[in-house]
Amino acid sequence: METKQKTTEREQWGSKTGFLLAAAGSAVGLGNLWKFPYMAGKNGGGVFVFVYIAILVTIGFTLMAGELTLGRYTQLNALGAYRKISKKLTWVGAMGVLTAFLILSYYSVIGGWVINYIIKSVTGAISISDTETLGNMFGTMISNPIQPILYHAVFMIITLVIVFGGIGDGIEKASKIMMPALFIMIIALAIRSVTLPGASAGLEFFLKPDFSKLSIGLVLDALGQVFFSLSLGMGIIITYGSYLPKNENIPQSAVFIPVVDTAVALLAGFAILPAVFALGFEPSAGPGLMFVTLPAVFAKMPFGSLFALLFFVLVLLAALTSSISLLEVCVSYVVDEWKWSRKKTTMVLALAIFLIGVPTSLSFGPWADIKIFGKNFFDLYDFITSNVFLPLGGLMSCITIGWVWGTDNAIKEATSNGKVKFALAKVWCFLIKWVAPVAIGIVFYRSIF
Ligand code: PHE
Repeated sequence: METKQKTTEREQWGSKTGFLLAAAGSAVGLGNLWKFPYMAGKNGGGVFVFVYIAILVTIGFTLMAGELTLGRYTQLNALGAYRKISKKLTWVGAMGVLTAFLILSYYSVIGGWVINYIIKSVTGAISISDTETLGNMFGTMISNPIQPILYHAVFMIITLVIVFGGIGDGIEKASKIMMPALFIMIIALAIRSVTLPGASAGLEFFLKPDFSKLSIGLVLDALGQVFFSLSLGMGIIITYGSYLPKNENIPQSAVFIPVVDTAVALLAGFAILPAVFALGFEPSAGPGLMFVTLPAVFAKMPFGSLFALLFFVLVLLAALTSSISLLEVCVSYVVDEWKWSRKKTTMVLALAIFLIGVPTSLSFGPWADIKIFGKNFFDLYDFITSNVFLPLGGLMSCITIGWVWGTDNAIKEATSNGKVKFALAKVWCFLIKWVAPVAIGIVFYRSIF
């Protein structure tokens, strides 16, 4: 039967740690290390962090629990899960697959930059503390018409090779070492950055909300970032939930994953933003923030170039555990629905994703002036996925779980028929039926129309 593929996949996270690592691995990635700090920088710092955490607590946890529960109940991929609840909802799963496809196309471009920086750390090219030189070096790298596309290809090929062979022991074992290593590394970086002379302005910027900067656009950015960072709203967590054993404690996992994810994002903020101020950068510099600031911080540390190398390798690994989950969603959909072989699917999709990513790469250089709806390709892909598809997917999953499937059924599944404790079950029902969909709906409506 067609479920054979899924059964093999299900074995992959047979153990509790395996599942938690895979889910946390999907969640922790460039979204935390690269995107969160620059989004906070762009949106006035503390006020963004405040709104982000408010959304995380109300909507993030709620949907994490919801998607895990729906996945385990249906034991299906995203599309199949929605279809099982109602045929009319199949499109939500399909939209999730499309979102994963689009996100990966630009995610891989940024992954390529990371590979480039690994090489730059080996050659010592970035062991300089002069911020202007670092800024120029970054600008030259991303605006080159060919080089970043080659690195984007390398990132896609690595992702493809891992998904090709199935997510075997290797990644699981690597994650067990990599995640704690990344954690320690980023704590060390945060300490160095916070103690730089002149860092206090950055700390204040990051921690003290200036509510005069609050706007509906900021709230939509924060909402999109919560979904992006937690891998919510597109069926990845549903798919991962479908591999969970029936006695697994869902409420606990739904707290663990967002807590780890947010800790990494906040630490990345502490590592980057104080240094931005101490070294005289602009916090609103955008996607280059991590690449320009951190090398300067490393240059001010003993064994800096070694740390730089280690850091970018860890960032690459974190990006890969996310990118494989993005590709996997697309692959499992095509294998299940179109009955293609796994090999052919992986190859064709990876090639298509690579090609769609090329305009993103060019939009930082020769195509910078090509604008669609006033946005270059990178901004356009990012806006459509993070600010339109993910919130819409999240809204639909609230409606699906809270209203169509029903919270009684959901609670039964989440608590393994009452065997697992779910202290906040009533609060959760209220959040998923009312608070989350209404809040997402209002923000979405106000910011788009
Ligand atoms: N959550 C990942 C990150 O923060 C990115 C991602 C988004 C992965 C959506 C899967 C799905 O980098």
